[in-house]
Amino acid sequence: MADGSDGEPVDDATLVEAAREAQEESFAPYSGYAVGAALLTADGSVVTGCNVENANYSNSLHAEEVALGSAVAAGHREFEAVAVSSGERDGVTPCGMCRQTLAEFCGEEFRVVCDLGGDDRREYTLGHLLPDTIDADTLDRDR
Ligand code: THU
Ligand code: ZN
Repeated sequence: MADGSDGEPVDDATLVEAAREAQEESFAPYSGYAVGAALLTADGSVVTGCNVENANYSNSLHAEEVALGSAVAAGHREFEAVAVSSGERDGVTPCGMCRQTLAEFCGEEFRVVCDLGGDDRREYTLGHLLPDTIDADTLDRDR
């Protein structure tokens, strides 16, 4: 599995492949839009998530928040990048909510790699996708 567990550095193609594998596990019977996300941690491991929808619609979990929640629950606090892949291979980017969720732990240079199918991908920084956002510094809090 493409998860960094073999000690090899994780490149973007490997990270996208992990997001594709996670997307295969998506539970999206309502939208039909399957999403997977793969987070690269500072220690070189990969933690994945997929969207998990709910019949009430509003409780649906997004792939990026599932991945981040799993990673934090496993003790990770620093991250290098995330790959995001939809079943459409349309280069979907994290929605506004997920950008803010990522920003709690990921700085402006954090890379967001979006899957356009095959070997095609588009890369952004989180600072580009979500400039000038609220964070712990805004609240003058140590964390
Ligand atoms: N979705 C994600 O998983 N991540 C995003 O940031 C964009 C949207 C999911 C939520 C819902 O299950 C489906 O995609 C359609 O919006
Ligand atoms: Zn989202």
